[in-house]
Amino acid sequence: MEKEFKQTKRSKFQKPAGMHDILFENQRYFKKIYNVVEEIANFYRFEKIDTPILEETELFSRGIGLSTDIVQKQMYSFKSRGGDFLTLRPEGTAPIVRSFIENGMFNLPQPVKLWYFGPFFRYERPQAGRYRQFHQFGFETLGEKSPIVDAQIIQIFFQILKTLKFKNLIIEINSIGDSQCRPYYKKLLTSYFRSREASLCANCRRRLRENPLRVLDCKEEKCQPIKAQAPQLIDHLCKECHWHFKEVLEFLDTLELPYRLNPYLVRGLDYYTKTVFEIFEDTEEGRKQGVLVGGGRYDTLVKLLGRKDVPACGGSAGIERIINLMKGKKIRLSSFPKPKIFLAQIGNLAKRKSLKIIEEFRKAKIEVTESFGRDSLKAQLNRANRMGVKFTLILGQKETLEGTIMIRNMKTGSQELVKLDKIVKVMKRRLKSK
Ligand code: HAM
Repeated sequence: MEKEFKQTKRSKFQKPAGMHDILFENQRYFKKIYNVVEEIANFYRFEKIDTPILEETELFSRGIGLSTDIVQKQMYSFKSRGGDFLTLRPEGTAPIVRSFIENGMFNLPQPVKLWYFGPFFRYERPQAGRYRQFHQFGFETLGEKSPIVDAQIIQIFFQILKTLKFKNLIIEINSIGDSQCRPYYKKLLTSYFRSREASLCANCRRRLRENPLRVLDCKEEKCQPIKAQAPQLIDHLCKECHWHFKEVLEFLDTLELPYRLNPYLVRGLDYYTKTVFEIFEDTEEGRKQGVLVGGGRYDTLVKLLGRKDVPACGGSAGIERIINLMKGKKIRLSSFPKPKIFLAQIGNLAKRKSLKIIEEFRKAKIEVTESFGRDSLKAQLNRANRMGVKFTLILGQKETLEGTIMIRNMKTGSQELVKLDKIVKVMKRRLKSK
């Protein structure tokens, strides 16, 4: 994320590469996004869930897949003092499935609908929209196989981004089949790519051995013509997967969501079955930031991690990428509301009294500001002027002793003395009448 302040000198200690402090302005974006996500999650009756930042390493190597980039290159893994192999979570779905099983959520009325918001960690090469600590919010529906769930998950992400004023969104969608149809397709694909192996990039030659589907994901120029002629899974889906995909697309049509089929979309995690989707902003800046939301169906993950078949579908969104694009759109968020009242105090006794007065204003929900570090009235009035407040309350030595306070109208310069114990009431009336 971009710097908020100019740095004068390099400090002795630096944050780890690819990780960021979330400073003032970014905090407001995080809060805005959190509020929108929470409101939509509540409407659709998703329950909030938080899982630990650390999990057993095996949860991810099994859940995400040994041959994936995440497991091979991107996990922060270590052995704890107690000898456990732990990993900073690179994603949220495997932990949620672990929690679903461990807490016996299959005994709850199904489906179980969960949402989350928090930090994730991947050891990647830091670049625009790609960090080593980043944040996601996500939605997961477990225990329902109907294609309407896939459409609802996509709809939820789409609506969140629309509420955040994204206008050029596009959904890419594909079906990667299931254990019925994918093995045969994989064979077809492998023999197709094998016969052209010499023309593939080094990365693809490795992928071909580990997971031929991932060759479809390659962005290298030299692999594109070979990819373009490759057999497409969509033509080889089994009856069930074909029906499921058709239904999802029909639901998206009904919802009037803008989508396009992408036969090369396979996603970088191994747990997907049937539907996979990504949402991004279809502009130059949007493509630079990368995919905003990724997700899909994962009907076999619960079983893989130790329990019976529980179909599931979900997705997650990259919060930093969303914020970077919101900033580019000049969606600025205001900081604190502008205060209308400044409290100036002169002398120690007045200063002490001020703390109590401010507290009374807080209880009455009226914003008041001050500048305790400045002692002279002139300096305080200057500050009040710069802040553009409507009124300055002046509490001097004399007023404090007499139990009064002066109200100064900053526009007209007129002043009025009122009883100190009435000041909150008087100001409430004044602010209302203006
Ligand atoms: P993912 O595609 O790996 O999917 O990540 C989801 C989103 O997180 C991405 O589209 C991107 O916006 C953001 N993201 C990922 N890596 C980074 C990074 N290094 N820096 C910044 N943002 C990043 C998952 O994580 C799956 N768990 C999604 C899912 C949920 N599938 C089913 N349920």
